Amino acid sequence: MKTIGIIAAMESELHTLEQMLQNRAVETLAGMPYYTGTIQDCPVVLCNCGVGKVNAALHTQILLDRYAPDVLIQSGVAGSLQPQVGCLDVVVGESLVYHDMQPWVLENFEPLQSVYLSDPKLVKIASDAAAGCHVGRIATGDQFVSDGALRRDIAQRTKALCVEMEGCAVAHTALLNDVPFVVLRAISDMADGTAEQSFAEFEKQAAVRAVEILLRMLPQIAAL
Ligand code: ADE
Repeated sequence: MKTIGIIAAMESELHTLEQMLQNRAVETLAGMPYYTGTIQDCPVVLCNCGVGKVNAALHTQILLDRYAPDVLIQSGVAGSLQPQVGCLDVVVGESLVYHDMQPWVLENFEPLQSVYLSDPKLVKIASDAAAGCHVGRIATGDQFVSDGALRRDIAQRTKALCVEMEGCAVAHTALLNDVPFVVLRAISDMADGTAEQSFAEFEKQAAVRAVEILLRMLPQIAAL
């Protein structure tokens, strides 16, 4: 049976899953807890990586080296970049880009690519598990976006549906290790001047929404 690695940036995004673990074990690596066990009989490793690209990349590499999962899911909350993507909607990241690195730099130097594609089978499983979800691009950068002009600029440059702070770094690391991945995000805010208040209001509900979908995905992935 497949082992599934699940990476989230915040404790609130993993708490429910952690409570459901059977045969739970925990160890701390590079300052963050890694939980292993089974959920619905699926072997899982849960990692709370902390926010931002560096935390995401380094804990993805540790998770892959230490636990060798067959697939990776990066899950959490995000800010919407498009009018049709509302609070508590779900976005499945078919492709991931950085919004704070120039694409030409990544294309001309290692890793020689600026767009990172999720595994198509995992995208299908995620979108089947999340009725009415949006499937498309997610933009990642080391910034909480809470300004209308910046939001428009990122949306225009990346054509992404939402913005967050870890997904592309996980995707980039998974890709270099040849491990299939998908990024799943529930919308907590509109990444504009209302974002901080909206994030405070919707973050927990959005995290619950992401977990509901993850739980529907696990048996489908385990059976791949
Ligand atoms: N995660 C949730 N909302 C976000 C935002 N507005 N910007 C960056 N990351 C986020």
